[in-house]
Amino acid sequence: MLAQFVPVQHTNPPTTGDVSAPPRIEAMLRRACYDCHSNETRWPWYSRVAPISWLAAHEVELGRKEINFSQWDEYYAATRKRKLQWTERALRQEAMPPWSYRIVHPGARLTEADTAALEEWIESALATPSAQRSK
Ligand code: HEC
Repeated sequence: MLAQFVPVQHTNPPTTGDVSAPPRIEAMLRRACYDCHSNETRWPWYSRVAPISWLAAHEVELGRKEINFSQWDEYYAATRKRKLQWTERALRQEAMPPWSYRIVHPGARLTEADTAALEEWIESALATPSAQRSK
């Protein structure tokens, strides 16, 4: 019970430079990935109840560390490329968004067509260095 009263950090640091993507792709990233991979987390009420952890602060912290679409401008070109490759792999493996999150956030689910569009965007961004830039 005590765990419930441990203060958890629900911060959204400033966005320095979002990944640059066509509007349809950006909308998908925002809907499916931004809660954990950006500085624009929409903290749900339940994230304030410690034992319930479908979107826990530490998960967001880990997610942001792996890939942060809000601080895209801070990555070196080679890092952006690597993160895009990881993203493609995670999509192919249907590893992201995590299943536990998909259950409570049905709006974050990606259809096959969504995933295909995301993969196509990544492929073209990987082939065109200027397309890997931030906003
Ligand atoms: C509920 C939070 C959450 C959401 C939503 C989420 N992720 Fe993640 N993601 C994580 C966490 C936590 C990690 C680090 C630990 C791990 O790899 O499981 C991670 C790791 C990653 C990694 C790097 C590690 C790897 O396995 O390759 C990639 C790439 C990634 N996520 C992509 C995405 C994409 C793309 C989306 C949206 C389609 C997304 N994630 C949505 C939490 C999330």
